[in-house]
Amino acid sequence: MPEKKIIAVIGATGAQGGGLVRAILADRSRSFAARAITRKPDSEKAQALRAAGAEVVGADADKPETLGKAFAGAYGAFTVTNFWEHFSPERELTQARNMAQAAKTAGVQHVIWSTLEDTRKWVPLEDDRMPTLMGKYKAPHFDAKGEADQIFRDLGVPTTFLLTSFYWDNLIYFGAGPQRGPDGVLAITFPMDDKKLSGIAVEDIGKAAYGIFKRGKEFIGKTVGIAGEHLTGKQMADALTRTLGQQVRYNNVPPEVYRSFGFPGADDLGNMFQFKRDFNQYFVGARDLGFTRSLNPELQTFEEWLAVHKDQIPLPADQPA
Ligand SMILES: NC(=O)c1ccc[n+]([C@@H]2O[C@H](COP(=O)([O-])OP(=O)(O)OC[C@H]3O[C@@H](n4cnc5c(N)ncnc54)[C@H](OP(=O)(O)O)[C@@H]3O)[C@@H](O)[C@H]2O)c1
Repeated sequence: MPEKKIIAVIGATGAQGGGLVRAILADRSRSFAARAITRKPDSEKAQALRAAGAEVVGADADKPETLGKAFAGAYGAFTVTNFWEHFSPERELTQARNMAQAAKTAGVQHVIWSTLEDTRKWVPLEDDRMPTLMGKYKAPHFDAKGEADQIFRDLGVPTTFLLTSFYWDNLIYFGAGPQRGPDGVLAITFPMDDKKLSGIAVEDIGKAAYGIFKRGKEFIGKTVGIAGEHLTGKQMADALTRTLGQQVRYNNVPPEVYRSFGFPGADDLGNMFQFKRDFNQYFVGARDLGFTRSLNPELQTFEEWLAVHKDQIPLPADQPA
């Protein structure tokens, strides 16, 4: 039997990378092997990946000296950074550089970089339709990822640049679920007007990434975008209403109101939504559903995702009448 090609997965204990590890392990052709990279090889999540059949290797994207063994002998590598752990675009850039350099040194043949748009290409810093944040960004968690694309290019790393979409899982884990308005009715709040939000079940990102690896060199050097569905806030609210069996409204607020909500990252997310709203045709067009399905035939729609996950969405208790 030919030897399996190893795919080293950064973020394997997390949402995007975890989906990829599970997709590799579920493939009956077994032509690839999953190497799960984590800073905590003894954690419960790491042990679960080991039990499921992944090789677990300890490494830290902040510590370049640890990444050699993460990528050694690997055919492919999936690379992602977690902005929300530290809120530092500079740290994302450094981690991306460390991973790109390590992949280059190890001779990895295909890297997927989980990226997003550098919104400054559409909204330059001097454009005051949205505030500049942290001195030189518009949407820091987008901009740093997009800026890091060039690091992979400059180092000559054979890379597919994967543009992801808003996780529907944010309704469960990221505080984006329905809240009650003053009248007690549930509502989801986005500053998107009547424009479409490109969304995806996060598990489908990993499956699509696996689809990219399985297609060989086809997408190396290219930017590809993925989404499960493009829906307006009202369409999302209507789907939630049908699935939860109680009314959910779409609460459209101006981006400046969203930015002022006060939770950590509200200004960054307000700018991100405004970018998605104001450049909606571009953003949706960059994430073709048919293409995504060709990478991942199991791609879920929002209603399919809701049917499975509806009981995990935290709902505030009924207000007393
Ligand atoms: N929420 C959304 O809608 C959305 C949409 C598109 C893109 N994103 C982006 O997705 C990224 C987060 O990805 P995720 O949701 O898959 O993350 P996640 O579920 O929060 O997990 C984070 C993963 O990153 C790993 N990690 C963090 N720092 C690391 C380091 N220094 N070295 C090695 N591994 C490290 C963690 O591994 P260990 O802890 O085991 O070491 C963990 O597996 C963010 O940057 C965000 O901007 C989010």
